[in-house]
Amino acid sequence: MQDLDLTTIKLLLVDDEAHSTKLMEAILKQAGYHQITSTNDPRQAVQLYRDLQPDLLALDMRMPHMTGFDVMRDLVPLIPTDDYFPILIITGELDAPTKHKALAEGAKDFLTKPVDPTEVTLRIKNQLVTRQLHRQLHMHNEHLEAQVLVRTKMVEQTQVDLLHRLALASEYRHDVTGAHARHVGKLATLLAEARDLPPEQIELIKKAALLHDVGKIGISDSVLLKEGLYTDTDRAAMKPHTKIGWKLLSDSRAPLLQMAAEIALTHHERWDGTGFLGMKGTQIPLPGRIVTVVDAFDAMTQQCAYKETMTVMQAKAEIEREGGKQFDPDLVALFLMVIDREGNNLVSEPKPVTLVA
Ligand SMILES: [Fe+2]
Repeated sequence: MQDLDLTTIKLLLVDDEAHSTKLMEAILKQAGYHQITSTNDPRQAVQLYRDLQPDLLALDMRMPHMTGFDVMRDLVPLIPTDDYFPILIITGELDAPTKHKALAEGAKDFLTKPVDPTEVTLRIKNQLVTRQLHRQLHMHNEHLEAQVLVRTKMVEQTQVDLLHRLALASEYRHDVTGAHARHVGKLATLLAEARDLPPEQIELIKKAALLHDVGKIGISDSVLLKEGLYTDTDRAAMKPHTKIGWKLLSDSRAPLLQMAAEIALTHHERWDGTGFLGMKGTQIPLPGRIVTVVDAFDAMTQQCAYKETMTVMQAKAEIEREGGKQFDPDLVALFLMVIDREGNNLVSEPKPVTLVA
């Protein structure tokens, strides 16, 4: 612990008797304190506390206008809850109940008049050392909390980085850039915001949506890399990617992975119950319903060698048509508003088309 720096410590003395404050000032100056403020009017005590922000208050009990209890009643609520502010009661004989009351209301120690200079000096020093230790502990705790925060952020960032790389690995055979996965994450965020989900849910969807197709890692090249439109056989061969994604991501206690697993499993479900698993309406978890809409929109508007790319407005009309069939109609209504607001900004780079009404 550092030594007390008596030149910077501020002491406040409140006692209606001028000879008492003068005596205390003399004792404390002799002990090395430089900044001593005293008043003989207890009504000034609270304002002086506000103005000076002292390190210690020595307070008389029996005074005209305000007793020491009155001063403490007004002053103690101003002391920050995480601060240790010593109030020393300096008075004549005190009975036990009065002492107990003073301690309960914020007093930290007592000095009896007539004061003994050595006792005054030692008791005040003890209180100031306690205050200093309290402050050091408080600073140390703040430092630790800041460190924990930094480390937690690093762990979270590592988790997100790993998930990005997992998404990239799963898309790598047919989309080296990972643009589709990233773009679905962006669109899902816009739709989740339009749905007014809580910020922490939006943040989870933003990251979890990237992994919606992670199960494609288990689909054979002959199907995944096929150029041209899928046949029914190809579509059947693609089906397991939802369950594979679920298997890869489930059984984690991390909320992000739990949501990612749910999205991977349900992003090919249809509102009318004719999807891969036959889940219907609100049986399909909301994050899955959100990704279904935006995944379809991105597939429609993405440049592709073997199928015609839709304009944003064509895709909008298609999404609208499928409301209540493939898609949750409420989400469709919200996504149409997002499309009207964002226009071509919703299309993956490079923009394949211009907005045509
Ligand atoms: Fe998929």
